[in-house]
Amino acid sequence: TSDLPIYTLEEVTKHCSLDSGVWVTYKGAVYDITEFVAVHPGGDKILLAAGGALEPYWALYAVHQQDHVLEILSEYKIGVL
Ligand code: HEM
Repeated sequence: TSDLPIYTLEEVTKHCSLDSGVWVTYKGAVYDITEFVAVHPGGDKILLAAGGALEPYWALYAVHQQDHVLEILSEYKIGVL
């Protein structure tokens, strides 16, 4: 169970830039990764997923299929879909 707020996909899509904030979804949860963008080891590519789902990109870049990456992501969780 989670006490975090529920967001719509429409709300997520509004957060698609560093100005508006960078939100992404992963497996039904919503993450505000704005602060992580500048320290991402893969650089600005991360912005391709801004306002949408991580899954298609993480399928392409399998380097993300590691526990330590999911631990980083979990720190930025703000809600659920
Ligand atoms: C590498 C995190 C989104 C592209 C990495 C690494 C981490 C990370 C921790 C280093 C992994 C390692 O070497 O062990 C994240 C997180 C993301 C995210 C937390 C979302 C919140 C993305 C997206 C893309 C991407 C959306 C592409 C569209 C890459 C690439 C690398 C990488 C290309 C390899 C960089 C290199 O080693 O030269 N990411 N990533 N990442 N990421 Fe991401």
